[in-house]
Amino acid sequence: MTSTRSKADLFNAMGIGPVWELREQDSLSKSGSVATEDREASEANLPDALSLESLREMVAACRKCGLCETRKQTVFADGIPHAPLMVVGEGPGVEEDASGLPFVGKSGQLLDRMLKAIGASRTSNTYIANVVKCHPPGNRNPEQAEIEQCSPYLLQQIKANQPKVLLLVGRFAIQTLLNTKKPVGELRGVVHQVPLDGLDIPAVVTYHPAYLLRRPEEKSKVWDDLLLLKQQGIV
Ligand code: URA
Repeated sequence: MTSTRSKADLFNAMGIGPVWELREQDSLSKSGSVATEDREASEANLPDALSLESLREMVAACRKCGLCETRKQTVFADGIPHAPLMVVGEGPGVEEDASGLPFVGKSGQLLDRMLKAIGASRTSNTYIANVVKCHPPGNRNPEQAEIEQCSPYLLQQIKANQPKVLLLVGRFAIQTLLNTKKPVGELRGVVHQVPLDGLDIPAVVTYHPAYLLRRPEEKSKVWDDLLLLKQQGIV
């Protein structure tokens, strides 16, 4: 394992400041409470349970919105199927469009380090997917109509994976799965529930790693969110 010193050097070199290390939960961390509002995720248009492989094939052939015209390829998921932790991001960027895998660019590298700090990784116990499966041209935000067409695939992915807990990064994942327009800052600090097929799946929310790269001073909040996530017993 990399030493603390060399990890710190690496993180500083990448411009996101001090190393992520696990410490005892501090007074800023708020856990244990479960939000009772804004929990209804849309399950519209969901067929019966599908396997991840058939879902992947459906997504690869999808032409439900205009993003299919400009994508290089669809980006379905990465990581371990049926893992206890499932991370949900926004949508593929340029690098993801080129590689076919989610979170491989700069924000993906930061996500990997965030996960590593709590003993999680896409090679051991984490599955990673996005709200939209195709790259929005020019790195623009996904449009509401695109999210509505694509999110049934995400709901099916969650159903097929049955994760113990979800980590929702950024406002598109959060607003889609918690069916709310509230900003991330108002939703952090409690464990939400994503209702799906009669099951409530615990969900921790945090800022998107791309936002964190722009605003490294928010790192301590994200750290608190990761501690809350770890408390859900994913490792
Ligand atoms: N940002 C996301 O939300 N998802 C990715 O796959 C890459 C960047």
